[in-house]
Amino acid sequence: MTDTDCVAFLQWALPRLGLRWAGYRKVRRRVCKRIARRMRELGLCEAGRYRERLEADPSEWRALGTLCAIPISRFYRDREVFDALGAEVLPALARGAQHLECWSAGCASGEEPYTLALLWRLQLAPRFPDLGFRVLGTDVDARLLQRARAACYGAGSLAALPAAWRAQAFEQRGRLWCLREGFRARVELLPQDLLAELPDREFDVVLSRNLAFTYFDAEGARRALERIASRLRPGGALVIGVHERLPPPAADFEPWPGCRAIYRCNPRVSTSS
Ligand SMILES: C[S@@+](CC[C@H](N)C(=O)[O-])C[C@H]1O[C@@H](n2cnc3c(N)ncnc32)[C@H](O)[C@@H]1O
Repeated sequence: MTDTDCVAFLQWALPRLGLRWAGYRKVRRRVCKRIARRMRELGLCEAGRYRERLEADPSEWRALGTLCAIPISRFYRDREVFDALGAEVLPALARGAQHLECWSAGCASGEEPYTLALLWRLQLAPRFPDLGFRVLGTDVDARLLQRARAACYGAGSLAALPAAWRAQAFEQRGRLWCLREGFRARVELLPQDLLAELPDREFDVVLSRNLAFTYFDAEGARRALERIASRLRPGGALVIGVHERLPPPAADFEPWPGCRAIYRCNPRVSTSS
């Protein structure tokens, strides 16, 4: 399948999955390779034949949806964002609080929730020794959560992590770096589809990065924001990807002063979905 064929196929298929082509432009080669492999499994050699298959067999859309999920993540992704969380946002929320609840929605293999747990333990816990700190990581893909539970990563995933943190929190096993048990305790991992289920508690900080506001279509992004807002405490922080924008209307969020990609949640929004 040529790149042109694959682009035409994705531009047809993605909207039918509630996804937007613009989010896939840069990562399309990875998705096209997976689709080509799936076509070979089905004995199909042209994108047009695969499209016919999808039109005839609604169950194939589920398989295609899985092929379109992008699992890329890494520790301390977008350094400035974690720097701001550690220097400004978490201390501001921690002052006067007894515990902080954080949620990483679309947590891939655990890199994001574990980064938050490390940030707390290695940078902030000494200043707030009595404060409880928990992180929930959710993802629609149960296989990624299995990897998150194993908590072993290639060196590339850890490249942005401060070297002292890597030395303290990880032990090397062959070519992998595995998070020591003591650093996993604050992190809970649950399989959840952001558009179908929600955690049963409220949060002080929600990270929704490189998922809804990149890959979902306008309606999906709006619903995702509404659902996230329903689980954010007033005054809490929403963190999005550095290349993302909140979908309109986002009246209940205002930029966290001086922090890129971080918003403060103001009055409670109503939820209808
Ligand atoms: C590109 S990764 C982002 C990981 C992390 N948030 C980051 O920025 O490094 C997107 C993740 O969202 C997950 N995902 C996709 N659709 C989802 C949905 N409807 N509900 C929950 N997670 C979803 C994917 O499985 C993938 O692990």
